[in-house]
Amino acid sequence: MIVLGIESSCDETSVAVLKDGCVLSSRTHSQDEHSLYGGVVPEVASRAHLEKIDILTKRVLDECGLAARSLDLIAVTDSPGLAGALLVGVSFALGLHTAYGIPITGVNHLEGHICSLFIEHKNIEAPFLVLLASGGHTAIYRYEQSGNCRCLGQTVDDAAGEAFDKVGKLLGFPYPAGRAIEEEASKVSGFKETEKITFPVARFSSQKTLDFSFSGLKTAVKNFILTNTGQYIKENRPQICRAFQKAVATSLINNLWAASENCGIKTAALAGGVACNGYLREELKTRFGADNVFFPSPALCTDNGAMIAMAGLKMYNSNRTRFPDMDPARGINM
Ligand code: KG4
Ligand code: ZN
Repeated sequence: MIVLGIESSCDETSVAVLKDGCVLSSRTHSQDEHSLYGGVVPEVASRAHLEKIDILTKRVLDECGLAARSLDLIAVTDSPGLAGALLVGVSFALGLHTAYGIPITGVNHLEGHICSLFIEHKNIEAPFLVLLASGGHTAIYRYEQSGNCRCLGQTVDDAAGEAFDKVGKLLGFPYPAGRAIEEEASKVSGFKETEKITFPVARFSSQKTLDFSFSGLKTAVKNFILTNTGQYIKENRPQICRAFQKAVATSLINNLWAASENCGIKTAALAGGVACNGYLREELKTRFGADNVFFPSPALCTDNGAMIAMAGLKMYNSNRTRFPDMDPARGINM
């Protein structure tokens, strides 16, 4: 079964070909132009997708030695995301569907992130818990099977990746800042220095909620920057990054652990751009045990066409394919 996956929901144009769940070819264009503005500009994103989507598709097909008409399924992100950006991917996919009569399915981007796990971990056993942490979403899901995935808690304000990007902006890093913050934090050596600066971890008054909040943490970093001299902030930027990263990871892992205790599920997985973070991965292994945790490799954590193809394949195998029906605000709906 050969599936073409197309992703264009935000600022990555990505196309991949999967054969029986294995990646044959995958190409991603990341739109660097947004760093000029400190965040994604929807119109700029749509135009950049339009310029790249056909080039990337031709390239992945050429790399696999495939003609478009030999595809068995086209899977395209149709929700959630930026309306204009989604429109480019969906229109292009519908063009291929119409021209060559290839079956097509719309894919929910969040389901795509979760399915990124199955590309490298074929034998991950359900039910498992998955923490999806990206620039636009942060939530914990209980995954049973394709079509049965329940949200147990989610952010009430900023997403974890959004918090990285906003704090990065305050500290002078270009957008997106997650990776730069991790690199800066890794410059700290020794425990004494690390503990010099700390930031609060949000807790809700009700014990039952597994929701997250990151806007208070962002304000705490902002206030810290405003109440110290520029020289002090510059000299201590690695410590600030380390303390911020620790606060985010602690919040994410505390809730995932609470979910595990509530449901009695010992297997935990990470997905989404923030899952690239090495500190988060190590802390998760420490809490759950290395044998009980799963992560996609970094190229499959950030937005990519391979995860959309994998989600499409799972949908096909469980008779859930659907005609793309663009909905920029739709939740996971499975
Ligand atoms: O999943 P993704 O590519 O796009 C969305 O669906 O949002 O995630 C992008 C997010 C950005 O906020 C970026 O700063 C964050 O993932 N990110 C990281 C790291 N690499 C990317 N956050 C923390 N540590 C990283 N190493
Ligand atoms: Zn994403």
